[in-house]
Amino acid sequence: MTNKTKKLAVFASGNGSNAEAIFEYFKHNADIEVSLLLSNKTDAFVIQRAQLHGIPVEVVTRDQFYHSDKVVALLKRKAIDLVVLAGFLWLLPGSLVKAYGGKIINLHPALLPKFGGKGMFGIHVHQAVLNAGEKETGITIHYVNENYDEGKIILQERCKIERDDKPEDIAKKVQQLEHRYYPKVIADIFRK
Ligand code: GAR
Repeated sequence: MTNKTKKLAVFASGNGSNAEAIFEYFKHNADIEVSLLLSNKTDAFVIQRAQLHGIPVEVVTRDQFYHSDKVVALLKRKAIDLVVLAGFLWLLPGSLVKAYGGKIINLHPALLPKFGGKGMFGIHVHQAVLNAGEKETGITIHYVNENYDEGKIILQERCKIERDDKPEDIAKKVQQLEHRYYPKVIADIFRK
């Protein structure tokens, strides 16, 4: 534990490129630290990223996540001020949303309320955007409630879709926006 006053927890299930962008952004911040990386997968690459940054890691099982107070107790014990979902694909249980109401944010790789909801993650989102013939897409950063992709929107940023773009091309453009804006939004929330 350090004596930095503001603490955030990152929840992630996969590769963790956004988690990495957040770790880098706050590495030398005088007030804010990433105090926890929580994952639901023992082999998620994001765990290695966190370990390289010296960030404490916790892995939870589905049973612990939905049927115990392990996560809320951990967040309280570590005095976490903000929970940041970065590619974390489980719906949060009501008890967690209640305990951390207004202090949990999520990143979604499309312009909500379009292309959100269960099953809408990663490349599936970009494929759906293409199938719908959209001319633009982007990112949405929003507060989290008990439903997928529904809480109050904090920021949306857009990018253009070119005629011959594939889902992978869109993924690249969207990811650039994610890495550029998500850490800044987190810093802004702490400034308020
Ligand atoms: C990100 O594109 C994020 O927007 C998306 O998962 C990806 C995680 O990438 N989240 C969702 O789709 C939530 N519904 P990363 O592991 O490289 O940060």
